[in-house]
This record gives sequence, structure tokens and C-alpha cells, in this order.
Amino acid sequence: MGMVDGKICLVTGGASNPGIGHAIAHKLSSEGATVIVTDLNGDGAAATAAEIVAAGGVAQAWAQDVTTESDWNQTMERIKDQYGRLDALVNNAGIAVLKTLTELTLEDYNRQMLVNMTSVFMGTQRAVELMRATGVKGSIINMSSIVSLVGVPACSAYAAAKGGVIGFTKTVAAETAADGIRCNTIHPGLIDTNMQRQSSVDNPEEYVKLHAAVPMGYMGPPQTIADAVLFLVSDLSTYMTGAQMVIDGGLINQ
Ligand SMILES: NC(=O)c1ccc[n+]([C@@H]2O[C@H](COP(=O)([O-])OP(=O)(O)OC[C@H]3O[C@@H](n4cnc5c(N)ncnc54)[C@H](O)[C@@H]3O)[C@@H](O)[C@H]2O)c1
Repeated sequence: MGMVDGKICLVTGGASNPGIGHAIAHKLSSEGATVIVTDLNGDGAAATAAEIVAAGGVAQAWAQDVTTESDWNQTMERIKDQYGRLDALVNNAGIAVLKTLTELTLEDYNRQMLVNMTSVFMGTQRAVELMRATGVKGSIINMSSIVSLVGVPACSAYAAAKGGVIGFTKTVAAETAADGIRCNTIHPGLIDTNMQRQSSVDNPEEYVKLHAAVPMGYMGPPQTIADAVLFLVSDLSTYMTGAQMVIDGGLINQ
């Protein structure tokens, strides 16, 4: 018996491998969930779903741009039609625009907010609507970052988006608690994914430095975040809402 047997779970940004969404999709499936993987990269999402099916799980993939309202409407309609319910939404898709304040353009800033914050609003609003309409006491997990909790140079736009996700999540948690719907944030530290590796492409020494910067001595594997998502989707966390889970190998230690 799995921890999330029979639950219908939507994971956005599940194409990147190694990536947090990819690890979450695999983890939820390995514990019995039916997983819908979406991503801007439809072929990558399909590859993740194919891996899950090959491993004996139940998954399907759709292309979805989380910044587009019509894509959110279509995704939720398809879930309603095919499954009649949604037990968990993991708002994981994201980008990192890392520029100092003086380098940032308004276009950079708006793009960062659209992908990492506005998308979370659109997905959460529709998930809550479907959960309420079907009486599902679902779980919504919004991916924030430790950068929303401590100051890090070149992260002002990213931090604004990830910080916005905290206040948004807490407010939604307050509005949906009486429905039994839960909404929490996860705050990863340095996690070894394509996003993190991208910053080291031109500077391999940076990759070594990143590992060394963590008190535990290494960047977290994406599975460490997937384990936390599994807990938040499962019935082990039914009394937890509006909370912030920091998973960072002791990096900010607060
Ligand atoms: N890796 C880290 O150290 C770290 C730390 C803190 C927070 N996070 C957050 O975790 C989440 C996952 O990050 P990751 O490291 O796995 O990144 P990643 O770049 O490896 O994967 C992100 C995925 O999101 C998808 N995506 C981007 N824009 C999209 C859009 N408009 N619509 C749909 N999909 C889109 C990408 O195609 C990609 O598959 C992000 O929200 C990120 O900000 C990551």
C-alpha cells in the first residue's frame, strides 16, 4: 500500500531531468498516485510520464505554459473530464532570472513574476475551485525558495516572486482551511538540478563551491524535495496548512 494510493496529482514543470518536478512525479507515482506531468517542454514532460509508465506507474503528460490562462483552463478541464477530481497540485514550474538590481530590466522583472508568481495564482485558484466543487480535501504545494527568507545578491526579482508565493499561500490557506483544503510552501536550498547546473556551465569551479557552501557539504538531490512533497500530499500532513518547509542542508539554519 502506497502513501498516496489513488490520489490524482498534477505536477507542473516536470520535464527537467535532473529537476525537482521530475523527482516529485516519480516519487508520487512510486507511492501509488496517478500523476499528470505538465511542462512548457511537452516532449520532456512526455519523457517523464513514459519513464513512470515503464516503471509500472500511472502517468500522462500534457504541454502547458503556466503563464497562460487558457492553458490552465484547458489543463483543469481535462483533469475534471478524465478523473472528476484533483487531490494535489504541485506548482513547481519556475525560472531563475539572476541579475543585480542595476542590471534588471522591467521586462526581466515582469517575466520572473509571471512565471514564478502569477502562474501560482492561476493554478491555485483553479485547483481550489475544482476541489471545492467536488468536495475534495486536497493539498496544494507551492514551490518557494530560501531566497524568499534571506537576502542573496542578484536575486531581487526571483526573491520578490518567491516571497510573494509565501503571502499568497498563507492567505489561500486561511481562506480554504474550513474546506479541509491545505496550502503550504516548500523552500529548497541549493538543489542539484538543471536550473542550478546552468549557473555553473561557464564556470565549473562554481559547481564545486556551491556544494561546499552547504553546511551538510553537498547540494541536495531533487529527491529530498520530492520526499517533502510526498508528505504534504499524503494523509500524514492533514493538520498542516499555511506552513513553510525549509529543506536546505542547514544553509540558512533558521
Ligand atoms: N534547484 C534549486 O536549487 C532550487 C532552489 C529553490 C527553489 N527552486 C524552485 O524549484 C522549482 C523547480 O526548479 P528546478 O531546479 O527543478 O528547475 P529546472 O529548470 O531544472 O526545471 C524547471 C522546469 O520548469 C519548466 N518551466 C519553465 N517555465 C515554464 C512555463 N512557463 N510553463 C511550464 N513549465 C515551465 C522548465 O521547462 C523546466 O522543465 C522552481 O520553481 C525553482 O524556482 C529550485
